[in-house]
Amino acid sequence: MTNDNAWDYLQPEPFYVKSVVPIRQISAQERRRRLETAKYNLFNLASDDVFIDLLTDSGTGAMSHNQWAALMRGDEAYAGSLSFRRLRNSIEEIFGFEHVLPTHQGRSAELVLMTHFLKPGDHVPNNIHFDTTAAHVQYQQAIDVNLVHDRIYDLQSDHPFKGNMDTAKLESYLREHGDKIPLVCMTLTCNSGGGQPASLENVRRVGEICRQFEKPFLIDSARVIENAWFIQQREQGFSNWSIGAILREIMAQADGMWMSAKKDGLVNMGGFIAVRSHELYEQLRMYEILFDGFSTYGGMSGRDMDALAQGLQECCSPDYLAYRTGQVAHLSVLLREAGISVTWPPGGHAVYVDAAQFCPHLPREQFPAQALSLALYLEGGVRSVEIGSVLRGRDAVTKQDRFEGLDLVRLAIPHRTYSYTQLEFVANTLIRMKADHESIRGVRFVKETPVLRHFTSEFELI
Ligand SMILES: Cc1ncc(COP(=O)(O)O)c(C=O)c1O
Repeated sequence: MTNDNAWDYLQPEPFYVKSVVPIRQISAQERRRRLETAKYNLFNLASDDVFIDLLTDSGTGAMSHNQWAALMRGDEAYAGSLSFRRLRNSIEEIFGFEHVLPTHQGRSAELVLMTHFLKPGDHVPNNIHFDTTAAHVQYQQAIDVNLVHDRIYDLQSDHPFKGNMDTAKLESYLREHGDKIPLVCMTLTCNSGGGQPASLENVRRVGEICRQFEKPFLIDSARVIENAWFIQQREQGFSNWSIGAILREIMAQADGMWMSAKKDGLVNMGGFIAVRSHELYEQLRMYEILFDGFSTYGGMSGRDMDALAQGLQECCSPDYLAYRTGQVAHLSVLLREAGISVTWPPGGHAVYVDAAQFCPHLPREQFPAQALSLALYLEGGVRSVEIGSVLRGRDAVTKQDRFEGLDLVRLAIPHRTYSYTQLEFVANTLIRMKADHESIRGVRFVKETPVLRHFTSEFELI
């Protein structure tokens, strides 16, 4: 876990490139102009404004030739599509849940789930809710509660499972507010906490607590396959378990899962809900049909379901997972060696740079992570994303900015897309910027939107 040599993490790509997309760097002057037009919000840039796009790993990856071949099998029947059958079988084989509802992406699964489970005033514990999950909880006028273990906020701790739920906190929260808690969730890996995994021991304990308090337990599984890899690599007693066996054991603790398949599904669009109980399936299905489409497609085309059925299988390959997490670790170590604080140990899908350490001259009210992400674009044409106070938004009750927690710049690595050299370019750009960090200017809101404000708000440099 404390291995600090970037070369030790270098795991060659278990594939070769068959088709390429040219990219080019626009001039620094042009980047300044485009950022101004984008109102200092990186979500407003066009992709050809960007040289290396680390905004997200969500739906931005490359499919394999077998996935492209699977597209051709797509059965576009409105009801009873054979593509759905293949997807359902793939999900059942990997995760063990019999009942599957495709959704067009993760947040539409959240809309279905939260509409079914929540009423105003309810509380939903999670390790850390991802922003769309929190927003869907709040949309039902309920309260999202983060009960992750505090060590996740300590960047110096090299605990291997910083995504763990604090089970003592969960128990006491359930004791205190049990009547208001219709479900418990866990996000694996914990995206808003640095892509950090949770241990199987912790997931088992959360499952036990939920059974004791008779609460449904659902897993937000966008990157659960990466989480299974970390269990195999880091947790005592699991090095001989296959990724599939670990996944089934994780899911055996829960009543169901939902997944934004744009991550570990290795597709560009899609998602699903999968549950054990037929009764729950029937209840959710009603909302699925209302919001996302009939229950054998739910917003996905047949061909996309086939590509997903194949992508889930490919993601479980140990060679793929070693390369995937190796890229993240390689970039993390290059930055750390240069004195740049990043979340540690390396997580699953992204490197998170500690903007408070990078820009000590900026007070948190000037949103240092937003400021650093803008500066990184200006310096190298690299698009990243703020995971800090801008994204956390305002407290539902006090309406104050949520300054608690870390201000991070996330460098998310799209699946099977960028080379090690391109990631080294990103490292080099940040290392150069660190030497002149005082020139990085803070930001303030010019227009603040009320929901998921990081996507659509406008800023100016201070
Ligand atoms: C952990 C987690 N849950 C849910 C979502 C929402 O998924 P989608 O973007 O497909 O709506 C995401 C997306 O980034 C995520 O990372």
